[in-house]
Amino acid sequence: MAKRNIGMWLYQNSGGEQIQKKMIKLLKDREIDVLANVNLKNAIAKNGHIIYEMKDKKVKLDKLDLFFSYNAGEQTPYQVYLYKALNRIIPMINSYEAFELSEDKFHTSFYLRKHGIRTADYKLCHSDDAHRLNTIMKKWEKMVYKPTDGWGGMGVTKIDSVEALNMLIPFLSQINLKYFYVEKYVDYDNTDYRVDIVDGQFVACYGRKAATGHWKTNVTSGGSVFLREANDEIVDLAIKATKTLGLDIAGVDIIFDRKKEKYIVLEVNGIPAFATPEQEKMGLNFNDKKIDLIVDLIDRKTTKEGGSK
Ligand SMILES: Nc1ncnc2c1ncn2[C@@H]1O[C@H](COP(=O)(O)OP(=O)(O)O)[C@@H](O)[C@H]1O
Ligand SMILES: [Mg+2]
Repeated sequence: MAKRNIGMWLYQNSGGEQIQKKMIKLLKDREIDVLANVNLKNAIAKNGHIIYEMKDKKVKLDKLDLFFSYNAGEQTPYQVYLYKALNRIIPMINSYEAFELSEDKFHTSFYLRKHGIRTADYKLCHSDDAHRLNTIMKKWEKMVYKPTDGWGGMGVTKIDSVEALNMLIPFLSQINLKYFYVEKYVDYDNTDYRVDIVDGQFVACYGRKAATGHWKTNVTSGGSVFLREANDEIVDLAIKATKTLGLDIAGVDIIFDRKKEKYIVLEVNGIPAFATPEQEKMGLNFNDKKIDLIVDLIDRKTTKEGGSK
């Protein structure tokens, strides 16, 4: 087989640099060369090519056999725009379509529900229709307002009374939103399951717990990570959600709805972080397994016969 070349853009903080090193070595053993740290922000598109300039050479990214994009923190709109273009020409992990879907909370919930996967109940309405939220509020009693493209719990706001809603609406109107996305507040124990999936296979599960007196499990909102085993139902749900969205790699967040007595998918992340060095010390030891599965996946997707999965 001819030598294969792939591009990679992986976050470097929180242990990412070490992960990248390991991955590059394992790929090299399979005769796959990696052009690392390819930030599309620095690429230019010119006629039929996307060109990445380095000190000593220029690389046509559209000639690579695959591009692995894994850097949530540094994503710029320009970078995402080129991601979409590049995805038309070469295989990408995740595919742009799946990535785009997973980046939007409404589209994700809509698509999952359409495919029979339980999520929180949600409503999307035009921002001129804010009065509808009052009707919804009467039915639900408590709701959660969410920016559809947020992360880390930012902007995710609990509304637990009509008064709170009436205070929020003028504020939301001011920031010129096109629409409002709200979810029914799920009665749960303020802990979640984060299930990592690569190539349709279960990699690992851990839990997150909101800080005392808080309801958001995000680490950036004060939540903490703990060791937690998944059961078959949780794993099946995570695999099904990942497959439905078409993601090669996903971190599926699942909570237990105490009213309905059912697990539900709260969110699907297309760039779930590897365990940090601190988390590895705690006993989250899934990084090697995840690296191996990603390497297998890249190998298969860059092999002619296996490319069309
Ligand atoms: N419908 C809901 N009911 C109860 N808690 C929720 C609901 N939606 C989100 N949360 C809490 O808020 C956190 C952040 O929401 P999430 O949708 O995951 O957004 P983000 O992308 O910012 O992490 C979740 O981890 C969960 O703890
Ligand atoms: Mg989340």
